[in-house]
Order: sequence, then C-alpha cells, then structure tokens
Amino acid sequence: MDMPLTRSVMEPFRIKVTEPLPFTTATQRRELLRQARYNVFLLHGSHVTMDLLTDSGTGAMSAAQWAAMMTGDETYAGSESFFQLERVVQDLSGMPHVIPTHQGRAAEHILFAAANVAGRTVLANTHFDTTRANVEYLGGTALDLVIPQGRDPASEHPFKGNMDLAALKRHLHEGKDRVALVLVTVTNNAGGGQPVSLENLRQTAALARAHGKPVYLDAARFAENAWLIKEREGGQSGRSPAEIAREMFSLVDGFTMSCKKDGMVNIGGLLCLRDAELADQARSLLILTEGFPTYGGLAGRDLAALAVGLGEALDENYLRYRAASIRYLYRALDALGMPLMRPPGGHAVYIDAARMYPHIPPAQLPGVTLTNELYLAGGVRAVEVGTLMFGRPGADGAPDTCAPLELVRLAFPRRTYTQSHVDWLGEVIAHVWQNRHQAAGYRIARQGRLLRAFTAHLEPVQAAS
Ligand code: F0G
Repeated sequence: MDMPLTRSVMEPFRIKVTEPLPFTTATQRRELLRQARYNVFLLHGSHVTMDLLTDSGTGAMSAAQWAAMMTGDETYAGSESFFQLERVVQDLSGMPHVIPTHQGRAAEHILFAAANVAGRTVLANTHFDTTRANVEYLGGTALDLVIPQGRDPASEHPFKGNMDLAALKRHLHEGKDRVALVLVTVTNNAGGGQPVSLENLRQTAALARAHGKPVYLDAARFAENAWLIKEREGGQSGRSPAEIAREMFSLVDGFTMSCKKDGMVNIGGLLCLRDAELADQARSLLILTEGFPTYGGLAGRDLAALAVGLGEALDENYLRYRAASIRYLYRALDALGMPLMRPPGGHAVYIDAARMYPHIPPAQLPGVTLTNELYLAGGVRAVEVGTLMFGRPGADGAPDTCAPLELVRLAFPRRTYTQSHVDWLGEVIAHVWQNRHQAAGYRIARQGRLLRAFTAHLEPVQAAS
C-alpha cells in the first residue's frame, strides 16, 4: 500500500441504505426499563437508540452480499449455494467437511454430542456461555484455562486470550481418559474479546496432539483474531489476515463458527471437520435437528451471503477500520479514567463494573447496574458479562457463586455505526461515569435453569429493601 497522507482511519465504505434511530425520553426509558424487569434483554429494539448488546447478526451486509442473496439456490438437496460456500470455506480453512448450521450454538451442540463429551471434560481458554451450557447440558464438564493475565483487566498482555499451557498440560496429563477435547475461542469473547497468539495456538495444538486429544477452534471472530496477530505478534506484520487465518485453521482438527460475527451475516453457523467419521456422525445429528447437510437450517440465500461475507471479513481495509473504531472508543473512555479491560479487544470495549462501582458487591450485580444506567442515560444497550451471565444461582434465588470478572461489554455491530455515533456514545458514558457514586445494585427476582442472563427478572436493591 502507498504511504498514507492522512492519519485518520475512516469507514472504508459509503452508505447506500439507512435506518432511522429510535429516540426516547428519560421518563419513557425509566418506565420501559421497569417493564423489561430491569433486564435489557427484555427491551424492545425499537426502544433502543444505540444497540451495543451484541455484534452477533446485527451488522450491515454489503451490496455484494445482497446481490449474492438474489442468486441463492433454494434447492433442498444439492443447493449450488452450498457448493459455493463449501469451496470458500475449504479454501480458507483446509477443512474437507463443511457442515452449515443455523447458528454457532447448533454447531457446538452437534460437535459435543458427536464427540461424546458426556462424563468427560472440555478444556478451553474460556468457554462462551452457550458453549459452556452445551457442554454441561450434554453431561460434560467445561474448564476454563486462560492465562492468569486474561483474568486481570489491568494487564496489558497483548494476547490475553492465550491458553495457560502449564495448566493445559497438567489437565491433559492428570485427566487422561476424562478429556474429550481442547477448544480455543478466538477471540476470547467471555474474557474481553482478547486475541490468542499463533504461537500459543501452535503450542496448544502440539500439547493436545501429544496426548492424543483433538483440538478445535471456536472461530466466531477468527478474522479479528488474525488481524490482532498481524498487529501485535512478532514476525506477523508482513502477512495478510487471510494467510494468518489459514495458519490458525491449519493447526486444528476442526472448528465451530457463529457466522453472525466474522461471517458478516445476520444468521448462520458452521461446523467444519477433518475427520470423516466424526463428520458422518455430525451430519446424522444435523439431519435430526437442523436440516439436510446442504442447507443445515439456513436458506440458500443465507449460504450465498455467507460465502461472500467470509471474504469481506478478511479485507485489510475493513479490519484496519474495525480495530481503529474499537480503539477510538477505548481511548475516549480511558481518557475519562474509566476502569477498562485492557488492551482493546477485537469487537468490543469492556468496562470493569466491579471497579467502577466498588460500593456494589458482585452479588448485587454491578454489571447490571452499569447496563441499566447506560440505558437510562441515553437509550444505549450494552450487555453484562459477569455474575448474571456466569454466576450460579443459590437456593434463595441470589447468586451463590460470582463470576471472576464483572464486565460490561459494548459490542460494535460490523459496519453499522460511524465515528459521530461513537462521539455521542462517549458523552452518554461520561455522564454515567460522573454519576457513578449514586448508582445502586440489583437482585435477581426470577431466573431460568440455563443461560439465565437472557430471561431473568431483576429488581433494584434499594426499591425492594
Ligand atoms: N462462540 C462465541 C465466542 C460467541 O461469541 C457466540 C455468540 C457463540 C459461540 C454462539 O453463537 O449466537 O451464533 O449461537 N455470541 C453472541 C454474543 C451471542 O453476543 O457474543 P450463536
């Protein structure tokens, strides 16, 4: 590339279709949040001005993707759109067996069922919540073995998603027959969207192999991980994100992917495998729960959009802008003195709510306090990644175990918000930061058995006491 004349990194696209933002008043938001039982998952999207709940399925597709959708082949068996997608995925990952699913968690469920995790252990850097829930639902044990720096928000380690190799070795050695598989989440969503280095992935794979265990990627954010390797890992800056991604995939036996992230689509998932026998078992389960192997729970047009999106996710101009946009908000909040998960990750900025609200104990869900304050202040929706999401319920409905970190994630949908949206967001967050001393905690009034964060009813601690 030529030497740039400018230092600004602008959005590498222009806007062809727009969608108006909904606005609400502070009075309306107070009532709407009460009606949503103080759980932002239960708000209507039409009452949210800036939606940073998730980067999953919420991004904008390109003109090329919309055009590809028109060519989608809706044939039940043998859809041409499937073969297009299969070629793209095989070329990117080298995996011979490409199995589409309706989204990531379906791929996880099928992999863990086919790999028979019942009564056995899955060793991961960190399981995402649906991943952990699927392992546990199938009777397995999910262990998180991220490096200690990954649990320390203040650490500036460039690859805080890395597996703790000594811990992995110990578990592989001691667990022997109990270990079903090793899983590496790239980037490490539950731990701050932090990347895993190529070197760590190489060593993780070598350790797993030496103990006869397969290793898989949870590749939801494979392109962002590849970009952060290019930016941060010695000797990688001269390689393209696609080359780095290829090497990541070359090291593993297979991967699950929620394509709603770096697949750049609104819906879709993949389970890709090297082993033919395991792939046969997976396809049988797929037919039972998702659909025929050439569509797997998706429309032909979804497969077509994904085939284009996987290429766009690896575009250097896009990834440079993506990383710059996360850094831009990160720096604005850092300048306010806010406690953040450091350094900036791939898809989101994470605020350390435990340190922001030291007067609110983890059992009173400081992350929920922050998400609710953000909504009340400006109609901004974020997500708690703390004790509501990862704690375990006590007998009386109160959380008896708390999560290791009380984070709040501001996830950026892809190609959706511009720099002025982020400037406005920075002002809303600054207001919440200034008023932090008055904020109060929450308690859980009602919760489900699995994945409680999505459906729990909450109540403010002060109002109920
Ligand atoms: N793995 C990771 C790392 C994820 O972040 C997600 C979803 C999944 C698996 C499950 O994929 O939603 O397609 O079934 N993460 C979303 C999020 C929900 O907001 O981070 P899915």
